[in-house]
Amino acid sequence: MLILGIESSCDETAAAIYETDGPGGRLKSSVVASQLDLHAKFGGVVPELSARAHVERMPGVVSESLSRAEIKMSEINAVAVTHRPGLLSALLCGVSYARGLAIGLGVPLYGVDHVKAHVAAAFLDSASTSSSRPLSLSDLPVLAMVASGGHTVLLTMKSPVEFELIGTTRDDAVGEAFDKVGQLLGLPFPGGPHVEKKSAGGNSEAFRFPIGVIRKAPFDFSFSGLKTAVLYTLAKMSPEDRVARASDIAASFQSAAIRALVSRAVRAVRTFGIRRFVLCGGVAANRTLRTAMNSALVAEGAEFHVPPFAFCGDTAAQVAVGAAHMIAAGAPPAPPDLDADTISELFASSR
Ligand code: KG4
Ligand code: ZN
Repeated sequence: MLILGIESSCDETAAAIYETDGPGGRLKSSVVASQLDLHAKFGGVVPELSARAHVERMPGVVSESLSRAEIKMSEINAVAVTHRPGLLSALLCGVSYARGLAIGLGVPLYGVDHVKAHVAAAFLDSASTSSSRPLSLSDLPVLAMVASGGHTVLLTMKSPVEFELIGTTRDDAVGEAFDKVGQLLGLPFPGGPHVEKKSAGGNSEAFRFPIGVIRKAPFDFSFSGLKTAVLYTLAKMSPEDRVARASDIAASFQSAAIRALVSRAVRAVRTFGIRRFVLCGGVAANRTLRTAMNSALVAEGAEFHVPPFAFCGDTAAQVAVGAAHMIAAGAPPAPPDLDADTISELFASSR
C-alpha cells in the first residue's frame, strides 16, 4: 500500500511516499521545501507568508515526491495530512489539498496529529546516519519526548493509536527558548542550531542558569525563567562582554535546557518502568542533547531511540508513517470534510 504524506503545519512544505509492508514499511521519497529564507528577516514565522508559500509550492513538492519514488499519482492508495496542531492558515493549505486529492483519487484520507507524527519519525528506516536502530511496533509501549519549537511533551505511546500525555510545558517550548536565546545573542533565526554551534568551545558551567521545576507536576516543564535569566545576565554586561562571553552564555543555557529535559526523561523511566525512550522533534537534532540523553538513559538500563537527523524537524515522512500506524491498528479514515485545529489531540480532553 502506497501512502502519500502531506505536511504544512508551519514553515516546511513537505510530501513523502511511504510503502507499507505488513506492520512495517519503507520510505520511498521525502521532499521538504523550507521557507526559512522567507521568514528569517522577520525573526520568526509569519503565518500569512507561510500559508501563501504552501499554496504555491505544494503541487510541485507533491510531484517531486512522486517522481523521486518513481510512481504515478494514480498508484497512491491513501492520503495522509497533518491536520493539527500548527498555524491554522498553514494547516488549512495542506488539509484542503489533501481533501481534494483523496476525493479526486477515490482513496481514504487520514488526519495525522503533528505531535504524534514526530514520534512516528523514530520508526523510519532510513539509509541516512541514524544513531540508533529504528523502532518497530513490536517495541511498544515506549516513552517519548517531543522537543520542538511548538511543544515540549512527555508521553507514552501504548499502541499505534493510543497515546497518553504525561507532561508538557507550562510556558515556552524548549525550541522556542533556544530561538529566543539565539535572538538575544544576535544569532540568525531559528536560533536552535546556531545556539548549538555557538556553545561549542563555550564553558557550560560559566553561568548557573535555573531549570524550571514545577513541584506539584514533576513531569511538566517551564523554560520562561531560564530565558529570562539569560536576558538579565546579558543586560548586566557591557556590549564587549556580551560578544566575548556569547559562547559561555550559549553553552550554559544549552546545558540548563538539556538538564531540564534529561531529568524528566530519567524520572519517567523510573516512574513508569518502561525501558524504551524516544527523543524526537526539531530539538532532537541537537548533538549534545542526544549524547546526554543516551548516557542518562543507558545508565538507567533503558534503550534510547532518536530519529535520523533528517527526520527530527518537520517532514511528511513522519505523517505517512503516522497514518501507516493508524491503518495497521484499523483506525477509520477521516471524514471527507476533515478540519484543521490549532491544538493537539493530546490536549483535547483538557480543553
Ligand atoms: O519540530 P520542528 O522542526 O518544528 C516544530 O514542530 O516546532 O522544531 C523546530 C525547533 C526550532 O525551535 C529550532 O530552533 C529547534 O527545533 N532546533 C534545534 C536544533 N535544530 C532545530 N534546537 C536546538 N539545537 C538544534 N540543533
Ligand atoms: Zn514539528
